[in-house]
Amino acid sequence: MRDIAAHFDREAAEYPTHIGADYIQTRKWTLIDTHAPETGIVADIGSANGRHALEIARRLDVVAVDPSEQMLARLVQRADARDLDGTVLPCAAALPRLPLTETSFDLIYCFSTLLLLSPRDQEASLAEMAGLLRPGGTLIVDIAGSRSLAIKYWRRYYRRRGFNGVFGHSAKQARRFLEQNGLEIISMEAHGVLSQFLLAPGLQRLPGLIKRTRGSETNPGWDAAVSRRLPGLAERWYIVARRDGGMS
Ligand SMILES: C[S@@+](CC[C@H](N)C(=O)[O-])C[C@H]1O[C@@H](n2cnc3c(N)ncnc32)[C@H](O)[C@@H]1O
Repeated sequence: MRDIAAHFDREAAEYPTHIGADYIQTRKWTLIDTHAPETGIVADIGSANGRHALEIARRLDVVAVDPSEQMLARLVQRADARDLDGTVLPCAAALPRLPLTETSFDLIYCFSTLLLLSPRDQEASLAEMAGLLRPGGTLIVDIAGSRSLAIKYWRRYYRRRGFNGVFGHSAKQARRFLEQNGLEIISMEAHGVLSQFLLAPGLQRLPGLIKRTRGSETNPGWDAAVSRRLPGLAERWYIVARRDGGMS
């Protein structure tokens, strides 16, 4: 884990701060925004420099968890520079075990982080996050698809840097991991079936292709249409799930 934290420490200065320049990135924020409670406490797991945490902290208190101290240092700097109503509490820690109190959170989200863990640790992490939710609380995660081509690219990328790689699952396994922890799946949307081909050498240079494929903040691109039709081949599923027991 120290190695992965050191890797993200090195990335911290360049890591994006904007919530999204295309549809696939923007959907992460849209889901967080849509499912955020009116009051309560939120946890952002794998928060990096706070690209999502600082937005949600405009109205709610957020615990921002990340093992990279450089990412958290940037989050604190950025939080200090803003007029936030909620409080952002940085927490240097790593899944699958978090030093947080059970049943404390109304919303927990974790994007682009689980895939960095081994399949067994991903399963333990989902159980950990489910246990941190209050009854009726919401968990939003992305899970990588093991049948995508992109996962092979990213596995090679991380292995070249000395890590174990990245790990995905089938859609059925992803659903089961959540349901076996007492969560009801509210939505599961597929992304990346088409956009993963942009990783092929040269394609990104074709004028307009990235924007048409990945869409824009306000318009779904070709990827959204193709991923909706072939969800089993997704690069990622964005999943919203709810813990039983809330007053509805
Ligand atoms: C690719 S970034 C994603 C950041 C942000 N969630 C997003 O969607 O843009 C992954 C972040 O997860 C953090 N991370 C890596 N392993 C982690 C773990 N086991 N538990 C929590 N965070 C972890 C990294 O330090 C990094 O900041």
